[in-house]
Amino acid sequence: MTSDSQPVLVCVAWPYANGPRHIGHVAGFGVPSDVFARYQRMAGKDVLMVSGTDEHGTPLLVQADKEGVSVRDMADRYNEQIVEDLAGLGLSYDLFTRTTTRNHYAVVQELFTGLHANGYMIKETTLGAISPSTGRTLPDRYIEGTCPICGATDARGDQCDTCGNQLDPSDLIDPVSKINGETPKFVETEHFLLDLPSLADALKTWLEGRTDWRPNVLKFSLNLLEDLRPRAMTRDIDWGVPIPVDGWEDDNAKKLYVWFDAVIGYLSASIEWAYRSGDEDAWKRWWQDPSTPGYYFMGKDNITFHSQIWPAELIGYAGQGSKGGEQHRFGELNLPTEVVSSEFLTMSGSKFSSSKGVVIYVKDFLKEFGADALRYFIAVAGPETTDTDFTWDEFVRRINNELANGWGNLVNRTVSMAHKNFGSVPAPGTLTESDQRLLDLAAQTMIDVGQSLHAAKFKNGIGAVMHLVGEANAYIAEQEPWKLAKEEASRERLATVLWTALQVVSDCNVMLTPYLPHTAQAVHETLGRTGTWAAMPEIRDVADESPIDPVGVGVPDKGRTYKIITGDYSSQQAVWERIDVVPGTELRKPQPLVTKLDPELGETGPEWARVIK
Ligand code: MF3
Ligand code: ZN
Repeated sequence: MTSDSQPVLVCVAWPYANGPRHIGHVAGFGVPSDVFARYQRMAGKDVLMVSGTDEHGTPLLVQADKEGVSVRDMADRYNEQIVEDLAGLGLSYDLFTRTTTRNHYAVVQELFTGLHANGYMIKETTLGAISPSTGRTLPDRYIEGTCPICGATDARGDQCDTCGNQLDPSDLIDPVSKINGETPKFVETEHFLLDLPSLADALKTWLEGRTDWRPNVLKFSLNLLEDLRPRAMTRDIDWGVPIPVDGWEDDNAKKLYVWFDAVIGYLSASIEWAYRSGDEDAWKRWWQDPSTPGYYFMGKDNITFHSQIWPAELIGYAGQGSKGGEQHRFGELNLPTEVVSSEFLTMSGSKFSSSKGVVIYVKDFLKEFGADALRYFIAVAGPETTDTDFTWDEFVRRINNELANGWGNLVNRTVSMAHKNFGSVPAPGTLTESDQRLLDLAAQTMIDVGQSLHAAKFKNGIGAVMHLVGEANAYIAEQEPWKLAKEEASRERLATVLWTALQVVSDCNVMLTPYLPHTAQAVHETLGRTGTWAAMPEIRDVADESPIDPVGVGVPDKGRTYKIITGDYSSQQAVWERIDVVPGTELRKPQPLVTKLDPELGETGPEWARVIK
């Protein structure tokens, strides 16, 4: 990629390192973000795609307690597992790192310090919940009760999912601890609060300019501005980034709130990526140039933090709230261009959740069915705009009828016939109207699918490609090349039909590349082409180093090694345009592209995820 191509920032929600990933997780943030990033690269954009594991907060502490292990050891273990899950799916991160790096701690502390200096972090005495039986602080997320605003009975201490409002645990009516059911006790405790009211006007101006967001996300976000109160950005907890304020940084009983630090990960990962690339300032193109768009991908339960907390942090850090302020070390940073959120993937009505025991792990799925089967299912039948139920029945149907009988069959019979009759791409004679019609449809589809992908409408996009696949199969059925092959007199017509079909196979493969990158590489080779068409991510071991040192107690040790996902996507051949199939190019005998599934699987599920009747 040349450095004068348009930069595009792709930010992907950070999964908690509290367990392996299940298919609900990757349906929300994983596959959509990768389809988008791969498309943008093919369209010539200079993509920086970042994420990592989110390793602080109570979700980690609760799981470590359950397993009876130290939270740091547990985070190390799940970080590795998640890196394998995501790389195995072919998610093309430029950097997938973690929040327990020295670099992340230092960047988070810089943002806090800037916000504090500008007056947007206010110290207040608040009411904190503790467990009467253990004396320990009870995390917001683990307190449930009735929402004081809408009356929903399953509101949590940090947020009500029904009306979307942010809450404090002490707001809840009839609060109970989700951990052991007891009624929490509220005690006074000092915290730093992000002064959202003084950032509200700037937030509103920014949001009102976001007219191209998915309407539900925009409406939800604007709604949040109605009832803005300062939000605590520190917690009574001993696991997290130290609070960089004199007298606080060495207090191991208080740390920064996990959501304060996690969203900053997008920036810290970009800075780490630049540092590792050998050009420490390289991240600035993606963050400081206002013409660089930034797209954020996540499940819907993360919207608040990306359409409110993160932009508020950025506005306050730049000194642009109603209290004014100065710019700091990182300067003025771009706000999100778009927050792209998915709904939930459910399984027979219950939310996919490891806590409810309804899980299909990515690892098991990949081992048995491969990455592209899962990617296809999520793209075509995932929760893009509504909650969607995963069933093995539908999975089998989609893979067999659409991927195997549709796409696999088209590639297979086209290349087999050409290989058998000519050995290479045949030279076409004069095109008939039906040949031209199919070629025109393919060209138009490439424009349409490009527009869909640009707008993050992934279902539309794949729907249009699969329609073209259907038309191409119908064309072959109509032209009956197997009959043409029997007569020497129709050899030129045979060549023309097969050449046309091969060109359309090649076009479909371009369009399927963001969705099915592994399959796309195989088709590329079947068509007699060489080299890397669709690049894959790599896992690498790196040492924890940072240009700035973090302060306080409990910062990660220097020099630990950890695994990252990265990759060289700039030398792949994939581009979003028609690639001419050249007569004379030698063809390979095609291997089966898609493995058909046993229909019985639809009824029973695999051994490791049996359908419960
Ligand atoms: N760990 C959070 C979750 O799984 C997501 C964090 S997204 C972040 O819900 F970017 F803010 F980190
Ligand atoms: Zn509510």
